[in-house]
Amino acid sequence: MNRVVMITGSTRGIGLATAAEFLKGGDRVVIFCRHRGHALHAKKHLVSLGPWENIFSLTGDVRNADDAKKIVRQCLKHFGRIDVLINNAGIAAYKPVEETGEREWDDIIDTNLKGPFLFIRQVLPVMKRQGGGIIINISSALGVTAEAGFSAYCASKFGVIGLTQAVADETAGDGLIVYAVLPWAVNTTLLSGSDLDLAPSEILAPEYVAEKIFAAARGKRKSGTLFEVYS
Ligand SMILES: NC(=O)c1ccc[n+]([C@@H]2O[C@H](COP(=O)([O-])OP(=O)(O)OC[C@H]3O[C@@H](n4cnc5c(N)ncnc54)[C@H](OP(=O)(O)O)[C@@H]3O)[C@@H](O)[C@H]2O)c1
Repeated sequence: MNRVVMITGSTRGIGLATAAEFLKGGDRVVIFCRHRGHALHAKKHLVSLGPWENIFSLTGDVRNADDAKKIVRQCLKHFGRIDVLINNAGIAAYKPVEETGEREWDDIIDTNLKGPFLFIRQVLPVMKRQGGGIIINISSALGVTAEAGFSAYCASKFGVIGLTQAVADETAGDGLIVYAVLPWAVNTTLLSGSDLDLAPSEILAPEYVAEKIFAAARGKRKSGTLFEVYS
């Protein structure tokens, strides 16, 4: 469809599968993560799925306000616009609140919640100038139903839902659409650290979640909608 789609944390797991889905759909993708090696590896994979000129790969940290500003500026310089922002970068820790260190808490909240805030803040004026755009925040099933042993993660993902619906209200009338996607457990590096007792049939493939994100980006539903993704 030739849209410009920026996906944070897009060098493996759900983010990479999502970049592949949009690329195969004819869109241009901006991928990035913290580690240059991961970004290069991801770009190599994507080049086998779509034209190299439709892929722009960068490095940066979603926790850092200067990086958010720089990445948005570089994207605009390269592709001239941003049609879809997917706030996907995320981390998790699997421990109860008493065992969670302050640094660990900050890392999770800063990556999963402050990151989307920083990118939304940079991208909103761009989309308003363009007269439209879609923002999709990746929350989690644990963003509406809490689970013991996921205190910091649940706090961040509940927060993402609040952020999504508040920004949807704030931008009503600007031609913008803001959604959250809430996947159940997905077979990625993030999940491999958990000791959740899940049957293999319950665990989603990243490609399945990517298809749902791609479908949501058609923008047919009301701004503020939450898309739950189960098997
Ligand atoms: N897997 C699940 O079961 C599941 C379920 C529901 C929701 N989710 C959510 O889906 C999203 C993607 O998760 P995933 O499972 O695909 O994780 P993943 O496989 O661990 O991939 C995470 C991606 O984010 C990047 N990243 C991490 N911290 C970053 C930072 N500070 N700045 C920029 N990039 C960063 C990583 O690259 P670098 O390490 O190189 O930075 C990587 O590309 C997350 O928001 C997660 O909470 C996952």
